[in-house]
Amino acid sequence: MWQKNVLRHKTSRSSDTPGPKINKPLVPLDGLLVNHQSDATTMKAAIINQYGDSHELLVQEVPNPLIDRQDDPHQVLIRVHAAGINPVDTKLRQGGLKVVQPGDFPKILGLECAGIIEQVGLMVTDLKPGDRVVASLGMTGGGYAEYAVAKDTNVAKLPDEVDFVQAAAMPVAAGTALQALRDKGHLRPGDRVLINGATGGVGTFAIQIAKLLGGLVTAVCSTNGVALARQLGADQVIDYNVADFTKSIEKYDLVFDAVAKSSFDECRAILTESGSYVTTVPSPKQVLEQVVTTFTQQKAESLLFRFTREDMNWLLKQAAEGQLRAVVERTYRLNELALAHAESEAGHVKGKLVVIVTENEPAKS
Ligand SMILES: NC(=O)c1ccc[n+]([C@@H]2O[C@H](COP(=O)([O-])OP(=O)(O)OC[C@H]3O[C@@H](n4cnc5c(N)ncnc54)[C@H](OP(=O)(O)O)[C@@H]3O)[C@@H](O)[C@H]2O)c1
Repeated sequence: MWQKNVLRHKTSRSSDTPGPKINKPLVPLDGLLVNHQSDATTMKAAIINQYGDSHELLVQEVPNPLIDRQDDPHQVLIRVHAAGINPVDTKLRQGGLKVVQPGDFPKILGLECAGIIEQVGLMVTDLKPGDRVVASLGMTGGGYAEYAVAKDTNVAKLPDEVDFVQAAAMPVAAGTALQALRDKGHLRPGDRVLINGATGGVGTFAIQIAKLLGGLVTAVCSTNGVALARQLGADQVIDYNVADFTKSIEKYDLVFDAVAKSSFDECRAILTESGSYVTTVPSPKQVLEQVVTTFTQQKAESLLFRFTREDMNWLLKQAAEGQLRAVVERTYRLNELALAHAESEAGHVKGKLVVIVTENEPAKS
């Protein structure tokens, strides 16, 4: 029944723009939105109609995103239960990344979500309606809504042990930590690794992943993060209110600055002769250093996260086995996203913020 409705609405949108297609909002929704039931053709979503501050985020009733099984053969439609919030969402909301953000207003932000597959394109062979999944939605976004569209290769099935909130917190932050440590930092068992910004979304995963890869971990955070860093497995913790880690007498095989608050120049004195510095936010100066250090033993690197199902499956396996957990500082409802963005922008989140979109499992049709 639902699918028929989707196909009927297919004619109302262009078919060449990737990602979720939404039309003008239908109904503004104020107040608490618990247990709101969308009808078959509309959904609740947090949209922005223009770039700006966190108050631009409005929960409205909008047309459901659509997939046509034939025209979008590799896409899947997901009933979203939870969506991760990332610092880049706030930059997208402000318009700071317009050049890499596809689609027109109104836009639905949210780079990642977890939920249940509702519909699959014709060529999707390894996912089916009813599967519990986590998805990376890329810069197109779409996670802050009851339904989201993802490419099949950007979706991974969830082990039973991993709930939607944990899963939604993982793709970008855990994936970034893994790729920075393994692919850019070439972390080997026994390496000494220093993680700056160790209590943030990326950092909390980085501590745990560095330990899983066999590293000896020094975490850098503020006083109120010290206990958390230790709980996550850090061997040593430097409180940045007490000591400047760049002046340490210790040497590290790898410095991973998860929050990009230092530079290669500032860190080279604490790197071993062939040590690497990896940052998550490259500046023009850092890009230059990256080029220059191609010819030196010490390396400056930066990481641009790229979702792979292989990495996601490994991360989920660790989570299912109790080796990796998302630290979720707080969950929000869709209509609280302005608060969540303001908290993220303040820059002191411990772990991740997650928006819970759908409380209960949808009724089976
Ligand atoms: N390149 C990529 O593909 C990629 C992917 C993901 C993220 N990123 C970027 O990576 C950065 C970190 O992301 P995230 O999700 O981890 O951010 P986040 O969760 O917002 O980071 C917040 C953490 O940063 C810590 N922090 C703030 N100032 C600090 C300082 N001076 N020294 C050390 N720690 C400090 C805070 O700890 P205290 O409260 O203790 O200060 C807090 O725990 C963001 O800029 C994000 O956009 C890039």
